[in-house]
Amino acid sequence: MKSLDSHIETVLWTPDQITSRVSDLATEISADLSHLTDPPVLVGVATGAFLFLADLARHIRLPVAVDFIRAESYGSGTESNGCPKVSSDLKLDVNGRHVVLVEDIVDTGSTVSRLIEYLESKGASSVSVATFLDKPSRRKVQFELLGNGKFYRGFECPDHFVVGYGMDFAELYRNLPYVGVLKPEHYKCQSP
Ligand code: IMP
Ligand code: MG
Repeated sequence: MKSLDSHIETVLWTPDQITSRVSDLATEISADLSHLTDPPVLVGVATGAFLFLADLARHIRLPVAVDFIRAESYGSGTESNGCPKVSSDLKLDVNGRHVVLVEDIVDTGSTVSRLIEYLESKGASSVSVATFLDKPSRRKVQFELLGNGKFYRGFECPDHFVVGYGMDFAELYRNLPYVGVLKPEHYKCQSP
């Protein structure tokens, strides 16, 4: 197999840029959470948020619980099917708790919108969203945060389908330590 790096056309954010931005975000989130009496719950959206959640959580120096949820909206292509479903539930009870939903990327907004509704139905007292990337130019669903939740984003992403730092195309490239755009031929060919 060829190296994954050879599939990348452009690197948008390097590992150093990512580390620095995630650490700043964690500082901001920590400051906003420091007044809480009960530990908030960081809920990572699997699988894409696994690296971002790990890095963010390591920089938050407050007691937090960690859990994962899964919402399926993508198959192996690059377009959302528009109606994501919760396909893997939380282990923790979030009733009465402050939740920070941790996402890799907010694109059309339908996944976070669905997950905020879901967390509300489970009794969360507030829901913030921390997304590593945000593509506001692609938004179709405007979502409201719950309670006094806030929206945090690492970087604004141009309208490209990106991979790396947790994000995949056809379940590959999640392990790249940077974020980049694939060479066009690799958006068609699904084996490395
Ligand atoms: P949304 O529901 O359209 O906001 O899409 C959210 C989900 O789609 C994200 O959590 C990602 O898993 C996936 N997604 C959206 N854009 C990209 C991308 O550029 N690269 C990889 N995954 C993406
Ligand atoms: Mg995702």
